[in-house]
Amino acid sequence: MTVLKRLDQALSNLGYCSRREVRYWIRDKRIRINGELAKNASQKVDPNSLMVDHQPLDHPGDILIMLNKPLDYVCSHDINEGQRIYDLLPPIWQARNPQVVSVGRLDKDTTGLILITDQSALVQQLTSPKQHVDKVYIVKVEKALDDNIIEQFAAGVQLISETEPCLPAKLEIIDTQTAKVTLNEGKYHQVRRMFAACGNHVVSLHREQFGQYSLGDLAPGEWRDLI
Ligand code: URA
Repeated sequence: MTVLKRLDQALSNLGYCSRREVRYWIRDKRIRINGELAKNASQKVDPNSLMVDHQPLDHPGDILIMLNKPLDYVCSHDINEGQRIYDLLPPIWQARNPQVVSVGRLDKDTTGLILITDQSALVQQLTSPKQHVDKVYIVKVEKALDDNIIEQFAAGVQLISETEPCLPAKLEIIDTQTAKVTLNEGKYHQVRRMFAACGNHVVSLHREQFGQYSLGDLAPGEWRDLI
């Protein structure tokens, strides 16, 4: 369904300029609607029909992407926390309203699949504990893995300083110090804490799947559209 919006609201929500600037852009003949010059800022438009400076708009509809988060990037908007995943995306997205946010977070030293969207309802849905969305991680650990840990994960690991144990998780041993872990919760530092509770230490953590979405051959720092 096409949602019509005021021209000035459409362009300001997509991060192009302020509502006031739209009037100057109309005067300067920079905006076209279905190929025709825009006439006034209040006219109702389908954002898909707009061009600015003869270019179609960047993501005029909803955003849902997957990013392969590189090491040392943070999933925060705060510029004081270091390199942000948002710095890997088109700069204009930072001025969008609603804001573009990650679906949950990965630690600074975790790599791999992070979903990013401007749809808060989707964030709620995909991070809700009730939805049981599977997340798949490849985990490298310090000490050799033995088969006992498979049962420990399946039974629900008791994390230090938590009252309830984790929900059952699936652990597959890939090689002596590498495991594939599938879980459907999202507690703070959960995978690292689960291995710590089992007497091991995570050396590297990489998420390769989130629900129906898999990273595939997406390179670190690259992203792709999912809608
Ligand atoms: N579990 C962790 O410990 N860290 C992450 O980034 C994700 C899951």
